[in-house]
Amino acid sequence: MWCGVITLFPEMLAALQYGITGKAIKKQLLNVVCWNPRDFTQDKHNTVDDNPYGGGAGMVMMAPSLCAAIAAARQTAPQPPTVIYLSPQGKSFQQKTAEILLEKKALILLAGRYEGIDERVISQQVDEEWSIGDYVLSGGELAAMVMIDVITRLIPGTVGDEDSITQESLTSGLLKYPQYTRPEDFQGARVPDVLLSGNHAAIARWRLKQALGRTWLKRPDLLAKKPLSNQELELLMEFVAEQTEIDRGTDNE
Ligand code: ADE
Repeated sequence: MWCGVITLFPEMLAALQYGITGKAIKKQLLNVVCWNPRDFTQDKHNTVDDNPYGGGAGMVMMAPSLCAAIAAARQTAPQPPTVIYLSPQGKSFQQKTAEILLEKKALILLAGRYEGIDERVISQQVDEEWSIGDYVLSGGELAAMVMIDVITRLIPGTVGDEDSITQESLTSGLLKYPQYTRPEDFQGARVPDVLLSGNHAAIARWRLKQALGRTWLKRPDLLAKKPLSNQELELLMEFVAEQTEIDRGTDNE
């Protein structure tokens, strides 16, 4: 995966050197290259922003240096890249989006600052606009890093065990089942017996039931979108029945 990032703060992207993205970079499964529009300015003050035409608060990133930086990134890309602008106005970035973007192999991520970028950069250079959530960040860098992180986890060979991707939250449209590790007893709270049983089929069944149940409890909106098999429906009903028992118990306390 090749990601060219257009940013006034390339140092921020150093955060990608940690953890799974860091390993992916070392293994050359991920290549992140930054271009700073400031390096493409022509004036002696290296101006990258100016007042908005028509007045109003804040500054706008200027088209010439941004477009020159994008052109330089395009030239280095190993294949024709998809140019993405990160902004709260974009479509909502989801796990599914990451799966689709991974297939593109080469992305240019345009991180804006200030009140935004000159609209002509968007109309002339940008293929897609994505938002990571309904809030306003100070710039697109954190959003670009979020996207790179999510996409990188999907590259085969990045996340230790292939199973951990397929069993992860959201890949299946469900939240992840609860996890436990040693000790077996922590302040009187015991690990569920089934996980100590060594019965792999029973463990898989329990985990699927928990994943369904948690999604029902915490993210019913996700469950509403997911078609369930008969077995999944049965497991969910079992979970709901057990949960109702638990709720009754606590109500009587
Ligand atoms: N830039 C500023 N806010 C953003 C958001 N929510 N998503 C993507 N890019 C942004």
